[in-house]
Amino acid sequence: MNLYWSGVISHFADYLPVTPKTPELTLQEGNTPLIQSQHIINHLKLKSLFFKFEGMNPTGSFKDRGMVLAVAKAVEDGKKVIMCASTGNTSASAAAYARRAGIECIVLIPQGKIALGKLSQALMHGARVIAIQGNFDDALAIVRSITSHYPVALVNSINPYRIEGQKTAAFEIVDWMKCVPDYLALPVGNAGNITAYWKGFKELFGRKETNVLPKMIGFQAQGACPLVTGIPVEKPHTVATAIRIGNPASWKGAINARDESGGSIEAVTDEEILTAQRMLAEEEGLFVEPASAASLAGVLKKNKQGFFQGKESVVCILTGHGLKDPDIAIEQCRDRIESLEPSEEIIVERLGLSGAKHD
Ligand code: F0G
Repeated sequence: MNLYWSGVISHFADYLPVTPKTPELTLQEGNTPLIQSQHIINHLKLKSLFFKFEGMNPTGSFKDRGMVLAVAKAVEDGKKVIMCASTGNTSASAAAYARRAGIECIVLIPQGKIALGKLSQALMHGARVIAIQGNFDDALAIVRSITSHYPVALVNSINPYRIEGQKTAAFEIVDWMKCVPDYLALPVGNAGNITAYWKGFKELFGRKETNVLPKMIGFQAQGACPLVTGIPVEKPHTVATAIRIGNPASWKGAINARDESGGSIEAVTDEEILTAQRMLAEEEGLFVEPASAASLAGVLKKNKQGFFQGKESVVCILTGHGLKDPDIAIEQCRDRIESLEPSEEIIVERLGLSGAKHD
């Protein structure tokens, strides 16, 4: 492992469309930990289970890997302004990298449906934040139109540089494991990430050998699962606001990743997502946002259905940090707070420590 990590553009330059003119933009994104499950694995019929904790990226989500390249290429192209639609994480990442590069950032978000942590990031980085009374799909349609008519760079994942940057996570998994897992489980929203991982694995091993590559198993929220039903969802709904998307831009990329790898895209309920989120926090010490827990929720569901034989290895992508969405976390466990008088005696009594005092 590198003692000094220079970031995605510099570390993976040979695999990315960079030129001598591409700015060496970095917030030292990438190189995120691949953490072996020690507890949840015991509930599962699997050989091994790893969590790729993308919440450890500089702005707390996997978006940084692709955003660094998209922003660097926009700067290389002479752009002074970038723009994106976002359920939150893309906007946080775009805002941070725009600042780092010394350019401006405009974000369109669905009003009231973006987690507090993400909104605070976009605002603190000085992005122009426009909340629309519509959903992510509406916002993306507007951004696509504006960026095609005005000198503003689009940095959503339909920008191919985003996918290029994001594919580096697949390289890291192979580098750390020294092999490929049997299954790669990940949440699917706008479907850029599943497209990117599949591209990354294929580039490492060559197109003809897809049978040695991991099967991509993607999970959408039940109320926002167009890739499962095959029909866009007009009014997507889920507690996992990051993946509240009804008409994914990378629809074809996701279906291609699913079919070429021999994987699947399935739905998990909000309840299953929140259960997986709490399990990660309580059993493994990993705090992720709800959308990120969809990967584990899906693996738990497939395990229950008897899908695994006990010899498979699985990597779950944990896409974003739990601190992104404190509201949903607190809502689930507010009643765990114990309110007491500021008295040592009362606290000791409540903790059941009375009588256990040593000299
Ligand atoms: N997990 C998190 C935490 C996300 O923020 C997103 C997408 C996804 C999973 C799904 O990834 O879109 O590549 O399939 N968030 C975007 C945003 C849409 O605007 O931040 P995907």
